[in-house]
Amino acid sequence: MHETAPRRLLVTSALPYANGHIHLGHLVEYIQTDIFVRFQKLRGNKAVYICADDTHGTAIMLRAKSEGRSEQDLIAEMQQAHRSDFDGFHVAFDHYGSTDCPTNRRLCGEIWQSLHAAGLIVRRDVQQLFDPTAGVFLADRFVKGTCPRCQAADQYGDSCEACGATYSPADLIDPRSTLSDGLPEVRSAEHLFVELEKMHGFLDEWTQRSGALAAPIANYLAGHFLGEALRDWDISRPAPYFGFEIPDFPGHYWYVWFDAPIGYLASTADWADAHGESFDAWWKPSAEGTGVEIHHFIGKDITYFHTLFWPAMLQAAGLQLPAGVHVHGFLTVNGQKMSKSRGTFILARTWLDHVDPEMLRYFYASKISGGIDDLDLDLNDFVAKANADIVGKIVNLASRTMRWLVESGLSASYPDDGGLFARAAAEGEDIAAAYDAGDLARAMRMIMQAADRANAFVDERQPWKLAKAGPDAAAELQDVASIAVNLFRQLMVYLAPVMPALAEEAAALVGGPILAWNDAQTPLVGCAVKPFQPLKARVTPEQIAAVLAASQQSTPASETSPNQASSKTKGSPMDDTVETPADAPSPSPLDAEPLAAECTIDDFTKVDLRVARVLSAEEVPEARKLLKLTVSLGGDTTRTIFAGIKGHHEPASLVDRLVVVVANLAPRKMKFGLSEGMVVAASGEGAEGVFLISPDTGALPGMRLR
Ligand code: 2FM
Ligand code: ZN
Repeated sequence: MHETAPRRLLVTSALPYANGHIHLGHLVEYIQTDIFVRFQKLRGNKAVYICADDTHGTAIMLRAKSEGRSEQDLIAEMQQAHRSDFDGFHVAFDHYGSTDCPTNRRLCGEIWQSLHAAGLIVRRDVQQLFDPTAGVFLADRFVKGTCPRCQAADQYGDSCEACGATYSPADLIDPRSTLSDGLPEVRSAEHLFVELEKMHGFLDEWTQRSGALAAPIANYLAGHFLGEALRDWDISRPAPYFGFEIPDFPGHYWYVWFDAPIGYLASTADWADAHGESFDAWWKPSAEGTGVEIHHFIGKDITYFHTLFWPAMLQAAGLQLPAGVHVHGFLTVNGQKMSKSRGTFILARTWLDHVDPEMLRYFYASKISGGIDDLDLDLNDFVAKANADIVGKIVNLASRTMRWLVESGLSASYPDDGGLFARAAAEGEDIAAAYDAGDLARAMRMIMQAADRANAFVDERQPWKLAKAGPDAAAELQDVASIAVNLFRQLMVYLAPVMPALAEEAAALVGGPILAWNDAQTPLVGCAVKPFQPLKARVTPEQIAAVLAASQQSTPASETSPNQASSKTKGSPMDDTVETPADAPSPSPLDAEPLAAECTIDDFTKVDLRVARVLSAEEVPEARKLLKLTVSLGGDTTRTIFAGIKGHHEPASLVDRLVVVVANLAPRKMKFGLSEGMVVAASGEGAEGVFLISPDTGALPGMRLR
């Protein structure tokens, strides 16, 4: 039972880029945030859900130009589309703004002053990449090249997906413009920087001890960034750029990642103005705002921005720090990155055209446990689970019992149900704790277990037989049906944050609006019951087929950047989304590389493949692809092997693992030393990477493969 004073929570989802439509990857975040907010409201807490479109940057500028219209026109259209997609999925913001608004400009100016006053801004020349063909300085996302830190190929100009490093585009090895595919020129331009290192002490403390971050995130930051000096953050971009011009630096604009999170503040301010609330009460810790919890929900790709830059900005500006930054993983569909050619790059709108959005909300909830693991939308599994749980367990409970109460209404007092209602009521706090912790999967499991118990009760008491038994059984029938309908309503209270429309329709049949979590504590008695209406239809494989077919046909090329395929945000990549060609059909590895000519068993046995244990692994700094491995073939026999797996495997992660090597390959003299064998690995079409082969547990170094 909720007995403490109501909490005050300001909750945000990452602001979606205005240059792409909402897709199922985005919705992993918006749905879980919406569930969190609805849950808090139902608990009687004051929760405000704030969001906005993220509108600035080079990508919008170039797209507007290519479409022959103003940026404002483009972002207004996208805002409408985003809002209607969110509505369709019952994502209910308290305020949905835009970063391109006067309030945001004003707040950017104020925070800028604070950063200046804190002595954090420096100006210096930087070498910036310029595309002479396109006539623009190349923003981070328009440059690709090799990561200067881990040497992974094909990384964007701002951060490496392989090792998480952030850097500036000019640091990339072998950079190229994604606009023209040409070699960018290096030009010198003045930029403004935030000296983040000056906030290092604060960030150490906040990330490790404030409790705002889950331990794996805090550890990641400590291990990857906070162990060394923090890099200055390049925060300005020279014209041409679509954004806010920096007042004390004409001709230069704030980088989109500066004004985007300030959009959280601007959107709050606009919400506050519209609702007679005070901005300060939510964001100024020293005023009435004390006691407010700020919760940001974000994808793992933008952790750095939200856990280092953003808290540093807030701290420098004297604003409230987040109570929680909830980091989630990406979406895969049928176990793979979303892909246009497979029809699994699914826009929100396409789903809404064919499949019940609440079923997706439920499925996501059943898979989200609050960690950073990716979420797989296996479509067969989705159909089976939505139908089994929501139709088969929840709706079915009402559909097979409600009809017998239409004339009589619910029993005047709650009958003996063997403790079923009380048990589920007592579980209310555990379910609430799971919701509050973001472990929606656990909450859903508990709810479905309660549903199983309720259905077992109906199976046992067989109201349909009582109905046939005539007037003598009428009272018992009313009692049995009243118990079932009360258990149904109780489940609907617990499910309301996840399935708000279903909860509302169910409430219209019996009991009236669900207003509070505690509605699950007390059974309804004596009230009227309306004739049952089918509350949810089964999801059919045909609907899914229609989604896949429509997605194959309709996804615009601008929605199909390879990164976006796996993530909510990464295809609306950070600054500057690039329109990339639709991804190619994915041929099987055999199509791409047909089988080699037949060989005899003698041919095969010439190659001596052995299990080996990696004793040490280190980078070869001068080589782009090589790691130097020392492996044991058992006993005292070791080999040094230069393996072309740099960028695919962290050296430290290889030490002690078993691999397979070609042990009788003629030694080869390389620039860096003698290579005495070869490590066997798989690669090919369908998945990027170099995959090492490991034997089953129990194999020992030196064993031969035959
Ligand atoms: O990664 C993205 O999609 C960004 N548009 C998120 C911005 S979140 C916030 F900082 F504004
Ligand atoms: Zn890297």
